[in-house]
Amino acid sequence: MSQNNFYITTPIYYPSGNPHMGHAYSSILADVFARFKRIDNYNVHFLTGTDEHGLKIQKAAEKNKLDPLKYCNNISKIFRDLTKNLNLSNDDFIRTTEVRHHKSVNDLWNKLIDSGDIYLSKYKGWYSVSDEAYYNSDEIVEKNGKKFSTFSGSQVEWVEEDSFFFKLSSWENKLLEFYDKNKKFILPATRKNEVINFVKNGLKDLSVSRTSFTWGIKVPGNDKHVIYVWLDALTNYLSALNYPNLSDSLYKKFWPASLHVIGKDILRFHTIYWPAFLLAAKIKPPLRVFSHGWILSGDEKMSKSKGNILNPLEIIEKYGIDQLRYYLMKEVPHGKDGSISLKNLENCINSDLANNYGNLCQRIFSFIKNNCENKVIKSTNISDSEKKLISDTNALTKNLRVLMNDQDLNNYMKSVIEISFLTNKFVNDEEPWKLKKSNKEKMNNILHLSLEQIAKISILLHPVIPTSTEKVLKSLNIDKKFIDLSFLDGKKILSNAVNLGDLNILFKKIN
Ligand code: ME8
Ligand code: MG
Repeated sequence: MSQNNFYITTPIYYPSGNPHMGHAYSSILADVFARFKRIDNYNVHFLTGTDEHGLKIQKAAEKNKLDPLKYCNNISKIFRDLTKNLNLSNDDFIRTTEVRHHKSVNDLWNKLIDSGDIYLSKYKGWYSVSDEAYYNSDEIVEKNGKKFSTFSGSQVEWVEEDSFFFKLSSWENKLLEFYDKNKKFILPATRKNEVINFVKNGLKDLSVSRTSFTWGIKVPGNDKHVIYVWLDALTNYLSALNYPNLSDSLYKKFWPASLHVIGKDILRFHTIYWPAFLLAAKIKPPLRVFSHGWILSGDEKMSKSKGNILNPLEIIEKYGIDQLRYYLMKEVPHGKDGSISLKNLENCINSDLANNYGNLCQRIFSFIKNNCENKVIKSTNISDSEKKLISDTNALTKNLRVLMNDQDLNNYMKSVIEISFLTNKFVNDEEPWKLKKSNKEKMNNILHLSLEQIAKISILLHPVIPTSTEKVLKSLNIDKKFIDLSFLDGKKILSNAVNLGDLNILFKKIN
């Protein structure tokens, strides 16, 4: 894979219920990383989709009295539509019920058979349908006669059935070596330590087929078994690149994946099972798994099964998509949980978007429209306060690529909004409105620098709030095709003479 290719994925979601804010969060986060890499000149391939097999889906379909595929068609469409509502820039949307995916899973299965990593036996143990996960006895608690997983809180049932197993136990040391060699395979570091401790405690062989239901991909040559939904689902990341066609240009360009964005609920699957399957099949593991925290409602995880969900569509309708995107990205601390509420959303829209970035754009654009006929020309004289704003800005932008490369979006946004704050302060201190008669040259320089700052902030915020920043940049005569980060390497964005277009209100203040 060349340095300039970047393959990024979201989890593929279960269509066992309608999408909620947690799904929106994961997808927007991945979208921000994808958009950042695009404007940083990478070839980006961004994948999302739905995970449609397994007992959880079969049960959801039965509950709705629908054939599983019909049921999935309906809900998968809602997830696909959500990608438009959230303004995701995904290049593909995969469904595990597609032919391309079946081919890929069959091939991976056969590779694991050929390598001697799969054998037939019988599974006896705990299973959670809600998580589609097996749990050890020491991960189970009893409450009111029912058994639950201590890890996820989901109910578990005792299962005994014929099953194929993957020799996960034999990959323990190789996984530990792999984590050791690839220090940033799992981020943030707290998650990495969690995984390493889990692996060090010993891995048991993993049941990778089920015989007590039928909704899934059949084990090649053995119709009684369907492939375990996680072996099936994880393979989606390969199917979307047309694996097993190794000479396919997508596969050649984009495998190994650069970044799987996931929630911490599915950490073990992505950081233990997935690299073990791939290593066994002699396929390169992905380069990075970034696990973000929960969107909480109060102090509970927002989830379909808890019924405490905020509907993203209602929020978008009422406040706007950029407003939702900005709030979610700003509010949830890097790798940690974040509690969201309407009140905080409104405060955030007012303080960061309306009063800070929006106000900066509006005041400068309308001043130039009303006083300079939309034209600004810069001279070569630079004042000390201008130099200071430029150097303070450089200090804040210096680390932005590093922050993004560690998926630390939260601190990235803090830096960018600080630049906007400093620029507003610069305008307040310099009072260009007082120079209209006395010093036109100085006034023009102040305005020009303010515009250059607005351009920088807009480009940096573009991955997060694409719609509003495109409006601003268009008024600065920067077409969206030409938005890029080359100013981080010292390039000027605006020419010395700027003709502005008009700019309408970007963010309505909420009272
Ligand atoms: O696990 N806060 O699908 P799923 C933040 N099909 N993110 C949340 C969230 C919350 N409250 N709730 C859900 C599956 N998510 C499998 C994945 S991948 C090969 C297969 C997000 O529908 C988060 O990304 O249960 C979490 O990992 C994912 O949705 C789980 O979605
Ligand atoms: Mg789930």
